[in-house]
Amino acid sequence: MAIILGIESSCDETSIAIIKDGELLSNVVATQIKMHQMFGGVMPELASRLHCENALFVLDEALSKANIKLEDIDAFAFTRGPGLVGALHIGMQVAKTLAMLYHKPLIPVHHLAGHIYANEFVKPLKFPLLSIVVSGGNTEFVYMKEHMDFEIIGETKDDAIGECFDKVARTLGLPYPGGIPIDKLSKEGKHTYKLPTPLHDDSLDFSYSGLKTAVINLVNNEKQKGNEINVPDLCKSFQDTAIGMIMDRLKKALQRYDIKQVVLAGGVSANSYLREEMHRRLDNTDVDLIVPPIWCTTDNAAMIAKLGEHLYKMKLFADVSISADPNWKIDKYKTF
Ligand code: KG4
Repeated sequence: MAIILGIESSCDETSIAIIKDGELLSNVVATQIKMHQMFGGVMPELASRLHCENALFVLDEALSKANIKLEDIDAFAFTRGPGLVGALHIGMQVAKTLAMLYHKPLIPVHHLAGHIYANEFVKPLKFPLLSIVVSGGNTEFVYMKEHMDFEIIGETKDDAIGECFDKVARTLGLPYPGGIPIDKLSKEGKHTYKLPTPLHDDSLDFSYSGLKTAVINLVNNEKQKGNEINVPDLCKSFQDTAIGMIMDRLKKALQRYDIKQVVLAGGVSANSYLREEMHRRLDNTDVDLIVPPIWCTTDNAAMIAKLGEHLYKMKLFADVSISADPNWKIDKYKTF
C-alpha cells in the first residue's frame, strides 16, 4: 500500500504521474514535439530549458488531478537514464528536492524498464518473457526470468530502429518524428524497392545503419537520374525490411529460449505493421502477447510510477548523491 509519484524527463516529454496501489490517479504529459519539429529532431539544450519551464506546472496538475497532497506521497521515482543528460538532470533534481523536503525515499528508474513495465497497465507480466524494446535510441531483445532480472540477448550494433525511421523520413522530406508518417504512407504503398538486410550471422543482434544508407543512396541515385521516387512505395519497402529484421530475430529467439510471454516496448511499438505482425505470429500459439496501448508507447511518467511501485516494495532506493546516467544499461540495474 503506497502512493508513488513518478517523474519522466529523459527526452522531449515532461511528465509526472501518481499511482496508488496499482491504480493510476494521474498522468500529465507536456510534450515538446512541436518546438523541436522545426529543427527536424530533438535539440538537447532546448529540451532541458523546456523541462525547467514545465516541471512545476506539470507537478501541480498531476497533484490536483489525483487529488493528492505532496505530503501524502510515499516515494519519489524518477527516470535516471538512458536519455539526454541535461534533460534527465531536471527531472532528477525535482525528485531529489521533493524527497529531501518530505523525507521520503528516492527511487531511480530505468527508462526502458519503465516501457517494459508499462505493459502491466494491460495485464500482469508472465515469466520467462521476451521484451522487444524498439525506440528512438534503442533496439534490444531483453529476456527476463523474473521481475527486475534483465538480460540483453540481442541489440543493435549501430543505429536504433527509431533513429533509422527518423533519418529515412528526413531524406524523404517527411516531418519528425519520422515513424508516424512512414507508417501512414506505407498503407498506400507497395513493396517495390529492394533494400538490404544486413547482419546474416547467427546472433539476435541488429544493424540499421546499412539500411538507412541504402535508402539515402537510392534516393540520391534516382534524383541524379532525374527519376521520381514513389514515396509510399519506398516507405512500405523500408518499413517491411526494418520490421522484418525484428520478426526474423523473434523467430530465432522463440526457437532458442523458453518464452511464455512477449511484450513490446518503446516508441516504435506504435508501428501498426509491427503490431499486426506480432499478432499474426503469436496469436493462437502458447506464447502470450502484450501490445501496449498507444499512450504507453510515447514517453510518460505512468510507466515510471508503475515500475516505481515494484522498486518501492523491493526497497531499491538511492541516496540524494546519485547522478543521472545517460548511458545506463538495463542489465546493470542495481549499480547505483
Ligand atoms: O520511445 P521513444 O520516445 O524514443 C526514445 O525514447 O528513444 O520513441 C520515439 C521513436 C521515434 O524514432 C519515432 O519515429 C518512433 O519512435 N515512432 C514510430 C512510430 N511512432 C513513433 N516508429 C515507427 N512507427 C510508428 N508508428
